[in-house]
Amino acid sequence: MTDTPSLISPILTTNLASERPPLMLGIMASGSGSNFVAVARAIDRGNLNAKIAVLVHNKSDIAAIDRAREREIPTVLLDHREYRTRAALDRAIVSTFEAYQVECVVMAGWMRMITQVLIDAFPGRLINIHPSLLPSFRGLHAIEQALSARVKITGCTVHVVTLEVDAGPILIQSAVPVLADDTAATLHARVQIQEHLILPEAIAILARC
Ligand code: GRF
Repeated sequence: MTDTPSLISPILTTNLASERPPLMLGIMASGSGSNFVAVARAIDRGNLNAKIAVLVHNKSDIAAIDRAREREIPTVLLDHREYRTRAALDRAIVSTFEAYQVECVVMAGWMRMITQVLIDAFPGRLINIHPSLLPSFRGLHAIEQALSARVKITGCTVHVVTLEVDAGPILIQSAVPVLADDTAATLHARVQIQEHLILPEAIAILARC
């Protein structure tokens, strides 16, 4: 895997001097959890004044669960198939986060559409990471969309979540060149290197607000 530097490097932030209590995070994941780990490591290094209060996941067989348990972070399974509506699932998510005193919610590979219920519970404090330079390539398969479009540069975006998918206010972005021989896997791997930098940075922005 080629570790190509991004064209726009995120500014690294240190929050050690902060006297505020750590921002209580709730993380939502449906996949491998590499972004979850990136956030946890930024906290460990002292680069992010936050605490992961709980990981909510909607599948029981995802790697993110193991990553959380290794760190003794509580995990809560909320299986979308057990809820009759998206709003009902979101009410359960909100109740869970309230029980863990969550202040800010991070969708780190959450593969379900959400509703106004979740948005209203965390106004301006519900963020998502997406593997493209929004507003290009919204929705699913952003990496494949970038390859099909033959763009020379793609990247990743952290944005505040609104009801319209991948359309909320942008907090931070990082660019990644598309190489001539890229496959979806190689490009996604390089995009993820940047995701792991900008997601903690975006949370740090919110932690300072
Ligand atoms: C990331 O590429 C993110 O942009 C997208 O889902 C993926 C999650 O990856 N929304 P991981 O589970 O954090 O490794």
